[in-house]
Amino acid sequence: MMEKTSVNEGLYNEQINAILNGELFEKSKPWIQQYNKLMAYYRCAIMEIETKFNVLNEEFSLRYDRNPISSIKTRLKNPMSIKEKLEKNDLPFSVDAIKENLHDVAGVRVICSFPEDVYMLAEALLKQDDITLVERKDYIKNPKPNGYRSLHLIVTVPIFLAREKRMMKVEIQLRTIAMDFWASLEHQLRYKKEFAFTEEMAKELQYCADLSAELDGRMDALRNLAQIDVEAVSDAERQ
Ligand code: GTP
Ligand code: MG
Repeated sequence: MMEKTSVNEGLYNEQINAILNGELFEKSKPWIQQYNKLMAYYRCAIMEIETKFNVLNEEFSLRYDRNPISSIKTRLKNPMSIKEKLEKNDLPFSVDAIKENLHDVAGVRVICSFPEDVYMLAEALLKQDDITLVERKDYIKNPKPNGYRSLHLIVTVPIFLAREKRMMKVEIQLRTIAMDFWASLEHQLRYKKEFAFTEEMAKELQYCADLSAELDGRMDALRNLAQIDVEAVSDAERQ
């Protein structure tokens, strides 16, 4: 059976072929290669940071028999989002503009059970001598007006290549399970196209943020009580 191709589809394929075989592609090839190389470096930086957190988690689980990290999520900003952010700031879509102006191309999100672990992990990471803090935003101590809570760090981390060492920026978001639950719901509601985000929904979300902050506070207190018990038991065993 013959395959049917509509006029539009034919034209589209022709254009794609022109781009792929033609001058335009040849011209943009070095740019694409540079871009891909930069993204590979960001992926390496993500691996470095993720490993550092996994090491801290491992050490903690050996020392105290519990894991401070519940999960780690990583993401590389996609080309469309990179382009949009640059355009928003009147910057060209160039490799240099990305390197110099964007700090969230590489993203690592660390999710903990307890708020105290968020701070403990952040401090443990920042103490490492190859990590440099660029910016710290504490939205746990100072939540955003909508109720958003998380600890944000922008750091540089070296990646070691065959012939050089490169410093790469990574955005790290540390939060508890409760903070993450809230943030993902808020994100979903805000970006849902089927309905408008109403004032009432914003209020309800703020209320949920207060509840989640209270839950985190209570969980920390409960954990501290349990901790005292554990320490008392091991003290008694030692005597
Ligand atoms: P961006 O241009 O969005 O990167 O903002 P910024 O440079 O001012 O940084 P900020 O620390 O405010 O936010 C960075 C990231 O944190 C965002 O890309 C989100 O992933 C997250 N974030 C910040 N505010 C909110 C919020 O109100 N709700 C949710 N769900 N996520 C948020
Ligand atoms: Mg961002």
